[in-house]
Amino acid sequence: MSGRWKAERRRDPYIWMARKRGYRSRAAFKLIQLNERFHFLDEARYIVDLGAAPGGWLQVVAEHLPRDGLAVGVDLKPVKPLEAENVITLEGDALEAETLKRLRRLFPRGVDVVLSDMSPSISGVWEIDHRRQLDLARGALRIALELLRPDGWLVVKAFQGSEYEAFLREVKASFSYVKAHKPMASRKGSAEIYVVARGPKRGAPSRPSQPWNSPG
Ligand SMILES: C[S@@+](CC[C@H](N)C(=O)[O-])C[C@H]1O[C@@H](n2cnc3c(N)ncnc32)[C@H](O)[C@@H]1O
Repeated sequence: MSGRWKAERRRDPYIWMARKRGYRSRAAFKLIQLNERFHFLDEARYIVDLGAAPGGWLQVVAEHLPRDGLAVGVDLKPVKPLEAENVITLEGDALEAETLKRLRRLFPRGVDVVLSDMSPSISGVWEIDHRRQLDLARGALRIALELLRPDGWLVVKAFQGSEYEAFLREVKASFSYVKAHKPMASRKGSAEIYVVARGPKRGAPSRPSQPWNSPG
């Protein structure tokens, strides 16, 4: 870690607040602020969180989830189990066909919210990182179109760069309501923004013909 990065971390109020409130990540505040604005967690019962590790968003989800609800976090990395029994995690690649199968089994009647905070491991080469991140955002869009109930929400992180406007158009073509929003807790210098969409359109065009990574 560089000295500048360390100094920035020391000054970051969200890191302090996360420690104080027992959140596993400062990212928890991004979800809190997004929900304060859009209220997608307020009445949600069935929730999928893609890119869930270390579990900050899941902790926020758990605070809103009714007893008879279910939230499932998915990540390439293991997530330490949460105290809430109705919040579980799957270790795996969100873009693999097998993950969608597992989610379908867990949510046979669909979900109210699909969250995605997925980011690739950062290579440092912006064009590569941006494209990889948008591949993940598009994966979240496909999963949302497969799993969401008619009035359901998608909240997906996207890196703003050359591909971003095209991605936003894809979301707009697929949902009735779409807004892009950068919460206060998202670092000013970062390219990330969250696309918040509600109401998947029937027969949305971004349902791909070759949707999933499959072995071979
Ligand atoms: C910024 S972190 C998420 C932080 C999380 N929202 C929180 O509050 O703790 C991004 C996560 O995306 C995950 N990720 C990246 N590619 C993925 C993929 N293909 N499938 C599942 N998770 C993925 C990474 O492993 C990483 O844990």
